[in-house]
Amino acid sequence: MFRFFRWLFHLGKPLLEYSNTIDSPDGRTACSLELKNGQIMYSVLKDKKVLVKESHLGMALRGDEPLYNGLILVRAVIKGFDETWETKWGEERYIRNNYSEIALYLSESGGKKRLFTLRVRVFNEGVAFRYEIPPQPEFQRLVVQDELTEFNVDSNSYAWHIPAYQPDRYEYNYNRDAVYMLEGSVHTPLTLEHPTGYFLSIHEAALYNYGSMTLKLNQRGALVSDITPLSDGARAYVELPFNTPWRVIMVADNATELTTNRMILNLNDPPKEDFSWVKPLKFMGIWWAMYVGEYTWAEGERHGATTKHAEEYIDACKRLGIEGLLVEGWNKGWNGDWLSNGPTNDFTHATPDFDLDKVASYAMDKGIKLVGHHETVGYIDNYEKQLEEAYKYYADHNIMYVKPGYAGAWMTVQGRREFHHSQVGVRHYQKALELATKYHICLDVHEPIKGTGLERTWPNLLTREGARGQEYEGGALFPSHATILPYTRLLSGGMDYTSGILDVGNSVKRMATTLARQIAYYVTIFSAMQMASDRPKIYEEVHPDVYKFIRDVPVSWDRTLPILGQIGQYYVVARKDRESEDWYIGGVTNEEGRRVRITLEFLDDGAYTAEIYRDGPDAHYRENQLSIEIESRDVTKNDYMDIYMAPGGGFAVRLKKH
Ligand code: NOJ
Repeated sequence: MFRFFRWLFHLGKPLLEYSNTIDSPDGRTACSLELKNGQIMYSVLKDKKVLVKESHLGMALRGDEPLYNGLILVRAVIKGFDETWETKWGEERYIRNNYSEIALYLSESGGKKRLFTLRVRVFNEGVAFRYEIPPQPEFQRLVVQDELTEFNVDSNSYAWHIPAYQPDRYEYNYNRDAVYMLEGSVHTPLTLEHPTGYFLSIHEAALYNYGSMTLKLNQRGALVSDITPLSDGARAYVELPFNTPWRVIMVADNATELTTNRMILNLNDPPKEDFSWVKPLKFMGIWWAMYVGEYTWAEGERHGATTKHAEEYIDACKRLGIEGLLVEGWNKGWNGDWLSNGPTNDFTHATPDFDLDKVASYAMDKGIKLVGHHETVGYIDNYEKQLEEAYKYYADHNIMYVKPGYAGAWMTVQGRREFHHSQVGVRHYQKALELATKYHICLDVHEPIKGTGLERTWPNLLTREGARGQEYEGGALFPSHATILPYTRLLSGGMDYTSGILDVGNSVKRMATTLARQIAYYVTIFSAMQMASDRPKIYEEVHPDVYKFIRDVPVSWDRTLPILGQIGQYYVVARKDRESEDWYIGGVTNEEGRRVRITLEFLDDGAYTAEIYRDGPDAHYRENQLSIEIESRDVTKNDYMDIYMAPGGGFAVRLKKH
């Protein structure tokens, strides 16, 4: 389906004042634009209720006048767009991209008469806009000192927020506060509950060659963009023509509806080359054994990444039906304090006890795909000088998946400390992605730049971390966290949460979870690379019955239907497998136990076997983690299920079509 129409307004004479309201295709969402006193402003409405009040737009520039005042309208172009496109992988097979668009061609009335375009798209699911600046005789490049984009939401709205500019990047627990209480800058997606009951999320799409957007309160109490600065204080150095990332305001009637908002992907371009080589992956890893102290990343007696261990894990993958294996700690750089070894980490030389040739050919013989690992510690100049060789080295060994990591508080480049989320970081992540593409390598980026939908254009960007994940278990992760992520972080794309740790009571890393909850994550947290994170012996010897779900669950979906939920309380979602007629349901709750009723009306006609993994009546995330009930029964679309989730628990269901 593809529909496209266009009206061009050639305004005879530039206008000093202008106002227009652009409606979404269904007429419920709208963006009002107003040019008044030389300034351009917008507001966002849903069902005629104002959700974002009159908000200013513009940019402060270093060494030049701001692009903000004295504006006139030269031309306005309105068009509509409607297409449905097929994803290579994801939460849905088909995504509809349907919006009304207005492009306002603005000019300064005096001075250098600089021009820029404000392009606005109004979807049923929200509003997006960006600044587009063409090259002009006296205006060829610019240094952005500050972007002045306001998002003037009611300051009594509640926000679920994590702080920006902190050493652990995005890896924080969320807090919920009224907007007027926000201190400092917060990351996006910033999800808000508006006093009218609508839910909003402010984020950005298509972030290239620019600092990423955080949000803070300005003097008039409005949220305003705070673009991550470079170490010299500038926000971005750009050559014209330049388009900023899209500024996005997702809007939904309720919180669960927000979770299927696809604006971020829709605002990115389709791929420009063939990506048929990209395949989602489920993988195990020589990984959690390090976290629980059985192995080490560093060389020595307990070194994890040895040839012997890698071959054992490959055999285990084969037995357990897992396609891939991650090996961390295989290269030189982990001995001593690895966090300070970043300047000299070596990505093409293995430790003496790890023979990559041998491991790679063993994996190949067994049909297991290796996942390589590059821990850069954020020393991107050291990494960039090895990058091409490092990818080539892996590709030569038929290793087509890589997990790069950027642990540490900074990106260090030529001795300068830059934020991961600054223009320097954004450019680096893009450079790495484009080189990975050249070598047909798929990525699972840890300590990444947040997702802005680039995986539509670069489908080999299979997943990323970019939030507090299970490595924080053992005291710093609370059950409510996974009931907030679907409505916040996950609006920006999939996450490698490192699910499936079944050794939940381990004395080194005791987890705040029940057993059933660990498998629920495969459904509640989308990721096109899903990790079966625990050690093979736990799956084979301790919990083979629970492990069965990990083996069965797919990583790419045909459809996604959020069923129930409240931010910070619970989340229940059903997804249909892309490769079969089967459906899966997952649910997680916060520290409180609750019973949920799921009507199965979304199923197709015919009978299904429901394999249900749920918390036992006495289960509890601290006191009784292992209590689980596994049951099988036949159901049809006329049935419903009542399922109890214990405090800090969850459930998983496979609905297998007869
Ligand atoms: C942090 C990553 O998130 C984790 O998965 C990895 O094991 C360590 N860094 C070491 O690279």
